[in-house]
Amino acid sequence: MSGWIAEREAQTMASTYWKRPLVIAHGEGATLWDAEGREYVDCTSNYGVAITGHCHPRVVEAVRVQAGKLLSCHGTFYNESRSGFLKRLSAVAPKGLRRAFLSNSGTESVEFALKLARRSTGRPGIIAMMGAFHGKTMGSLSATWNKKYRAPFEPLVPGFKHVPYGRLERLEAAIDGETAAVIAEPIQGESGINIPSDDFLPGLRDICDDKGVLLILDEIQTGLGRTGAMFACEHYGVEPDILCLAKAIASGLPMGVTMATEGVMSSLKMGDHSSTFGGGPVACAAAAATLDVLREERLPERARREGARLLAKLKALEEKYRVVREVRGRGLMLGLELRFDVLNVILGAMERGVLVLDAGRNVVRLLPPLVIEKGQIDRVVSVLDEVLGEEEAARLRD
Ligand SMILES: Cc1ncc(COP(=O)(O)O)c(C=O)c1O
Repeated sequence: MSGWIAEREAQTMASTYWKRPLVIAHGEGATLWDAEGREYVDCTSNYGVAITGHCHPRVVEAVRVQAGKLLSCHGTFYNESRSGFLKRLSAVAPKGLRRAFLSNSGTESVEFALKLARRSTGRPGIIAMMGAFHGKTMGSLSATWNKKYRAPFEPLVPGFKHVPYGRLERLEAAIDGETAAVIAEPIQGESGINIPSDDFLPGLRDICDDKGVLLILDEIQTGLGRTGAMFACEHYGVEPDILCLAKAIASGLPMGVTMATEGVMSSLKMGDHSSTFGGGPVACAAAAATLDVLREERLPERARREGARLLAKLKALEEKYRVVREVRGRGLMLGLELRFDVLNVILGAMERGVLVLDAGRNVVRLLPPLVIEKGQIDRVVSVLDEVLGEEEAARLRD
């Protein structure tokens, strides 16, 4: 590892990240290179961001051209790059979601959704799910479940309740006259690739309609083709009232998007919300190119096909090793739940040239760029096979 790079970061950055001993220098497709020129198959996409692959030439060119024209353009002015992106977004978004607010990150997208729900209903209550992850600023953190993230920063925003993920009867019972909205991820990412039963999202939609509360879907991790459809809610034929996007939307440039129905969005008054950088021309150019690439290269379909192939191969590892409790996933959003902490597996895979993520304490999470190639998938499986084999042998010895 290039020592001085790591040392300087370690000495000068706030120490909020667990750091891997790895300096990433550049990337292409699903491949990353470290500062010494060593190659890695990337199954992180930098936490779900690099959906079109690292440095997709279409995205790079769009950024380059726009950067030479105009770097910033506040939302109080009109701009061609922003309009071009919004036109493409409307073409792929769930039909009823006709309006969007543009910000710069996932947590901002959720913050706006929460404010919008309160404004539109005039009620303060938000029901979120146990295990949920929606971000770490005060509003989104209030909807996030993990006590480790929440407890040091209490008191959080009042009016939030959590109910068990996937339990419709508990959700129904929790809704009262103060409830503005229910917020959920179609598949929970950070807490372990938790896939609810097929009737969960449709049931959620029905309950929200019956009770007159809004449904917010957080597709910050599941959206933009990741699960094998442009948005995961399409698998279930469900449309939310408010949809949160970020991560992959601009292939790596910072962008958050909150979409809503005309009726919900029209509740906002001038000045209710704003963002200096939101909808900036460079991020919008990258996002427009991202949507073009997703469509033209049929990446959601590819995620479905290659995800099914990868899932089948990982299932074989579940059969082979007792240390694997369960393999699950949809599209190219996959998890291997182990019977122990995954740190050794993450580091062992990295030493062998494969980068994977954790999700919770004991789930290895795979979120590769959707352009990952067959040979790379085979390499990921053979490295995981090797690392899990070693772990199993070590555990049998102990
Ligand atoms: C489902 C979900 N919502 C919200 C967020 C927060 O996004 P950001 O880190 O861009 O604030 C994340 C990030 O991991 C996420 O997975």
